Amino acid sequence: HPKALLRAIQEDGDFLVKLAKQHIVSGDQFDQNTMKQLFRLAAKIESNPKRFNSPLQNKILISAFYEPSTRTRLSFESAWHRLGGDIMSITDRSTTGIAKGECLADVAEMFNNYGDCVVLRDNNENSLFEMMDALRIPIINAGNGIDEHPTQALADMYAIFKWRPELVDPESNEKVKIGIIGVPSKMRTIRSFLKCLSVFPHAVDELVIIHDEASSDDLFDNGQREELEARGLSVRTETELDDVLPELDIVYINAISWEGDTFSTYGDAFHLTEKSPLKEDAIILHPLARGEELSTALDHTSHNWYFSQARGAVFLRMALLTCMVERAERVMDVV
Ligand code: CP
Repeated sequence: HPKALLRAIQEDGDFLVKLAKQHIVSGDQFDQNTMKQLFRLAAKIESNPKRFNSPLQNKILISAFYEPSTRTRLSFESAWHRLGGDIMSITDRSTTGIAKGECLADVAEMFNNYGDCVVLRDNNENSLFEMMDALRIPIINAGNGIDEHPTQALADMYAIFKWRPELVDPESNEKVKIGIIGVPSKMRTIRSFLKCLSVFPHAVDELVIIHDEASSDDLFDNGQREELEARGLSVRTETELDDVLPELDIVYINAISWEGDTFSTYGDAFHLTEKSPLKEDAIILHPLARGEELSTALDHTSHNWYFSQARGAVFLRMALLTCMVERAERVMDVV
């Protein structure tokens, strides 16, 4: 329950004030204290959402999604609506001047006049950066190619800490073993998740990356594994999923048939089903949308934390948007 997480984190709103007017590009931007305060605020909102129904009154979100999305677009828009704001949504770039060759800097300049915040998903990794240079309102990266998806990672961490609030405390001796099924160098959700997870090394007993043989040579970006280890994570790689599953407390699986946004198949060796040898109290996280890798037979088991992960993303995004767009002093009043 969110209230248990609320109790586990001491309030210190100064870390939230620093988010005002910031662009959100990468999981790297969040230190431990900032994340903890965001999770605290998200838990507070989740415990009583109606209390937060007006901070973004008269503010306009420009929701620009040039690649398919169910959860990210709708949860951002739900979050903004719940905070009392209005939304302009673009779901197809061909309906804008971009189709006529308009440069992204000019589009961004117009966004400055029309809205208070932009959420952008684009299969082109660089569009975000081209717009950022011209924007005077904050932009949130909602998935840029295979690069990053930082708010998904924050939602993932929020789900983990609601499951086990004691893990948030560096003084606690509690640790979990986490298995990630996928390719950290090619999956934006995993890349961002690893950046956020590695800020809490005290909570991780071991990180096991489970991948197919074909991706062995380019499993990590240059220096990615070394960076995780330097931050204090113990990293192991495996290729036999069922051999590893009995060890894992958290199983993080991604849509295996996707390789970022290229849709190329990289392997169908990994499936989680009701017959998988999961620990009795293990949880499964999946950013969704799912493919065949995650059986619907698991939906009605206690392993299913992926629906909670998606639901909690609304409150996490409400917390983030409030801090980014609203005046810091008013955020503090609400906190
Ligand atoms: N988790 C996620 O990014 O889902 P969508 O692609 O539906 O937004």
